[in-house]
Amino acid sequence: MELQGKRVLVTGASRGIGRELATHFARAGAKVALVARDAASLEALAKDLGGTAHPTDLGQGAQLDRLLDRVEDEAGPVDVLVNNAASAAEGALWKQTGQELSSRVWLNLVVPLELCRQAVPRMLERGGGHLVNVASLAALASVPGMTAYAATKAGLAHGASALRDELKGLPIGVTTVLVGGVRTELLEAGESYEPFHRSFERLRKIQLVPDTPVEVLAAAVVLGVEQGKRTVWVPKRALPLVAAVEAPRKIVSLALTGIKRRA
Ligand SMILES: NC(=O)c1ccc[n+]([C@@H]2O[C@H](COP(=O)([O-])OP(=O)(O)OC[C@H]3O[C@@H](n4cnc5c(N)ncnc54)[C@H](OP(=O)(O)O)[C@@H]3O)[C@@H](O)[C@H]2O)c1
Repeated sequence: MELQGKRVLVTGASRGIGRELATHFARAGAKVALVARDAASLEALAKDLGGTAHPTDLGQGAQLDRLLDRVEDEAGPVDVLVNNAASAAEGALWKQTGQELSSRVWLNLVVPLELCRQAVPRMLERGGGHLVNVASLAALASVPGMTAYAATKAGLAHGASALRDELKGLPIGVTTVLVGGVRTELLEAGESYEPFHRSFERLRKIQLVPDTPVEVLAAAVVLGVEQGKRTVWVPKRALPLVAAVEAPRKIVSLALTGIKRRA
């Protein structure tokens, strides 16, 4: 997809990865529509990037239900949806409250699927679009302190794969982003739980999941959308993990649609 002049809605754009994604999409010529709760940060970033701010608490069903309507009324048609907002676990599952658990499942899994549901008919009506879902390498393999988070990210990556099959032959691309470690508030919060911190340090030490600079990730995502990639993953050395999880999906997808023979 050529991003020049396209409108890109980024959730979780007030800080961290979302903020950097919005910046890189804007640099690629897109008009960005920014969503998160922190109105002041969104408005300052929107001003810098020439985009629009749409303060929203995605944890509130009533605000989620009308999000695409509202953003399109306030800013114009959305061509690319980037589902990036999420929260991570900060400890063992059984030490969290039921409310924390259901809020996390809501924000990390229900919200992105719901926004895809809202966006697809609009994109089809206008002739095309692109959906980006920011998952995690935790969707493929997990470490302690990430039980609920990993479950939501696995669900999101798998759901995005199913959605891609549903959209086969239609002009909507679906890109799943699988990220290792990026130093943000989310990772810092996760590392406040000692077993998580120890596991992550070990993965860093053996260089399986070295930290990725946020700008490297954002540049890879923008390129992935421009090139219509189904999966963008960082760090690149995680390829064996990605390939192992993608294999069954690709095999079934090929079995269902057949392999195109060369003439
Ligand atoms: N950092 C990593 O190492 C890492 C690794 C793998 C995957 N990821 C994924 O990358 C994405 C971004 O993570 P990050 O590290 O940048 O996290 P972050 O720094 O904690 O940022 C999270 C963003 O989500 C927004 N958000 C949280 N709750 C919200 C709500 N109820 N309504 C609206 N917005 C809400 C926050 O904004 P407000 O607080 O202003 O609402 C913030 O902009 C997530 O999907 C995460 O799972 C991150």
